[in-house]
Amino acid sequence: MKHTMGVAGLAVMGENLVLNMVSKGFSVAVYNRTYAKTEQFLAGRAQGKEISGFQQVEDFVDALESPRKIMLMLKAGPPVDQFIEQLLPHLSPGDIVIDGGNSNYHDTTRRVAYLESKGLHFIGSGVSGGEEGALKGPSIMPGGSAGAWPYVEPVFTAIAAKVDDGSSCCAWMGPEGAGHFVKMVHNGIEYGDMQLICEAYHFMKSVLEMSAAEIHSVFIEWNNGELSSYLIEITAEITGFLDEDGEPLLDKILDAAGQKGTGKWTVDAALNFGVPLSLISESVFARCLSSFKDLRVAASKQISGHVYSFDHEKETMLKDLGRALYGAKIMSYTQGFGLLQASSNELGWNLNYAEIARIWRGGCIIRSAFLDRITDAFTKNPGLTNMLLDPYFLGMIVDIQGSLRRVVRTAVMAGIPMPCHSGAISYFDGLRTARLPANLLQAQRDYFGAHMYERVDKPRGEWFHTNWTGEGGDTTSTTYSK
Ligand code: 6PG
Repeated sequence: MKHTMGVAGLAVMGENLVLNMVSKGFSVAVYNRTYAKTEQFLAGRAQGKEISGFQQVEDFVDALESPRKIMLMLKAGPPVDQFIEQLLPHLSPGDIVIDGGNSNYHDTTRRVAYLESKGLHFIGSGVSGGEEGALKGPSIMPGGSAGAWPYVEPVFTAIAAKVDDGSSCCAWMGPEGAGHFVKMVHNGIEYGDMQLICEAYHFMKSVLEMSAAEIHSVFIEWNNGELSSYLIEITAEITGFLDEDGEPLLDKILDAAGQKGTGKWTVDAALNFGVPLSLISESVFARCLSSFKDLRVAASKQISGHVYSFDHEKETMLKDLGRALYGAKIMSYTQGFGLLQASSNELGWNLNYAEIARIWRGGCIIRSAFLDRITDAFTKNPGLTNMLLDPYFLGMIVDIQGSLRRVVRTAVMAGIPMPCHSGAISYFDGLRTARLPANLLQAQRDYFGAHMYERVDKPRGEWFHTNWTGEGGDTTSTTYSK
């Protein structure tokens, strides 16, 4: 009997995806570079299930029904290219290779072209939800060779998470690296959400001087309101978790954050597409600054901040804090979707923003009820240029801005860093300012580099240069971009 799917790479995500596929009635052939791992899996969690393991790549490929569907659950980077080369001699035209790791979208675009040039298909698919998601239902974001999608769709739709209306958290994203691009932006938004929550926690702990138990109660309460989300839910559990000695475990965890790279890639893409992604960028830099633990400890002994004591009504401030977090979250998603829009427009991917928000509604790390609002916004108006201009978000943020300002002001006075909340209000104010000081910036560029400027009293596209010093003549810069 031939198997429906092949999965290569039996680390925990790979194993869990295999078990998920089998639980939905698909038979799976598995391969792992170290065969002992395959044997261990077959003798353990895979026992009695429709799973066969293979030691040789050739036998693994032979065990699959045609067209073959081979999903790679490997470490992103060179291991994916190396395994593709191992597979190639054994594949037939029309076979499908799927990369389910956190690959860089540039690599995926390159691999799609490479495999298509050989008459094969390649799908780069984001898979979000961690180990549990992989087993019970992740959010899946595939893109690449569209011709392969009808063969893969039944499997992916079945194994993905389902939302309240029964729909599956999986949809075709677009050509080239679109699937991995969308997953990358998901991770950037994840970084932003996490940092915003950390800032609210810091504010409660250091400005409001709340106990661990009080903070825990606030997160439980927030998870029952408009902030309800997987990340708030796990934060409630984390803040209530006690170590063996009965003390909060959180207080004993070193404050130096790690990162594997998808946040950095998101910021890199934002810079390349020229999209303001200040909030997500701040969340990446906050991780970088946190990792300078020794430097911060040394600096903390030499630099003291402003003397401050909180003398407002604590309950009112807490209410402001929850609303500020929601407002900043709106700003972060506005920026994240702005990046999706820019990439889609520039690369001709035709991304469906309503659908992206829908498949993030379940299974993935950023899942929350809030995403329904985004689906609504883009369903009502697919041409929405900026998410914040949707009537719901506009009404919300106009109402919430006071809370965001009060929280950021208090944090600044108290000397508590809240880079993402501050970035949120700055973005909001920048967006709603018809005349920014970029007139001065253009004048400076023209002064020192003859880069030229447009005038408010002349049509756009007409460029002027002024001889600001009376020296240096009228030569304009033509070698630099305006
Ligand atoms: C997911 C997660 C996952 C990610 C890490 C976080 O969607 O399931 O985003 O893909 O790899 O869990 O990455 P960092 O190590 O960069 O925080």
